[in-house]
Amino acid sequence: MTPPSTVPADPHSGPEGPTALLPRDYAAAARERLDGPVWDYIAGGSGDEVSLRGDRAAYDRYRLRPRVLVDVSHCELSTTLLGRPVAFPVGIAPMAYHRLVHPEGETATVRAAGEVGALTIASTFASKTLEETARAATGPLWLQLYVLRRREITESLVRRAEAAGYRALVITVDTPRMARRERDLRNGFSLPSHIRPVNLDADHTAGLHRGRSGSSTLAEHSARHHDAAFTWEDLAWLRSLTDLPLVLKGVLTAQDALRAADLGVEGLVVSTHGGRQLDGAVAALDALPEVVAAVEGRCEVLVDGGVRRGTDVLKALALGARAVLVGRPVLWGLAVDGAAGVEQVLSTLQDELAEAMALTGRPRLDTIDRELLNGPSGFANHSITHDRDMA
Ligand code: GLV
Repeated sequence: MTPPSTVPADPHSGPEGPTALLPRDYAAAARERLDGPVWDYIAGGSGDEVSLRGDRAAYDRYRLRPRVLVDVSHCELSTTLLGRPVAFPVGIAPMAYHRLVHPEGETATVRAAGEVGALTIASTFASKTLEETARAATGPLWLQLYVLRRREITESLVRRAEAAGYRALVITVDTPRMARRERDLRNGFSLPSHIRPVNLDADHTAGLHRGRSGSSTLAEHSARHHDAAFTWEDLAWLRSLTDLPLVLKGVLTAQDALRAADLGVEGLVVSTHGGRQLDGAVAALDALPEVVAAVEGRCEVLVDGGVRRGTDVLKALALGARAVLVGRPVLWGLAVDGAAGVEQVLSTLQDELAEAMALTGRPRLDTIDRELLNGPSGFANHSITHDRDMA
């Protein structure tokens, strides 16, 4: 056995021994733990999963251009999202049915986010009520809404969100119908009997638990209840319902971004819905620059899809995102270790972002800009300027 004195110090092990799991380890452990169809429902995308892979691949097409000899003894990650403080620019994307992976579901997720000072976006299709989630929250909390055919349900969700203390409404606009998710169709995916969309009434539970090969009960539910006729004109109706800030999630073009900003929308999430809606859609990271340019600072722009590392967060910020959202890694953490797993996933991203900022000579968020990037729409033709006050 190697004598302890010759074992090099491992900078990645703390006093309790080796570091806790990293996001990739959580993925492997979650996969072992979850039933195959549940794993597939979370991991999968639509069609040939081109967009699912594309979102991730977009990050790897950029390389970082570090600046040196900058004082990075302290890197400041805290910022605000729609006026509320967050400890770092990473939040939890809205995802349905957290109880599929852990009995505590959304309440454990939101508790973990509160511990690290991160934003949580709860889903309309949560498996804990929006009030239960709000009671467990100590950090900022927004509610994601689908506009349903029965508009009175959407309106009542808005009222409940206001009463429970949600700070913004995130309207998902890329899902007039659910795309074909072939893994779910093949698995005949349905919800286990103990899990249901508890924010909605019994009408919305009917049929969700009776799977048949070749169909997904969630897709059938969305075909029945999502309002595919919802348009920009109707957005004015939503705007008139509430003073809560509105965020549109699933915008991928400058044209739509501009229209949203003109209608007084406060935030946008540039997103392919995790590669689960239009397969072949432009990667979210690649759509980000045109959206940011179009809104000229009138909306806060967030991005999601494929973020796995602190350097990914840094790349998104360099292209103009105010923050990023993470989805699947949060469910991996939740599946493996409940709230502690979610907290670990988020704080790893926070640590990695701090490291990436230090190693690129960007100690503050406002020093992160496109000059940091080499890549498709990065700082390709740089003119060399003196930058005495850069840091
Ligand atoms: C729901 O929005 C899903 O992507 O499953």
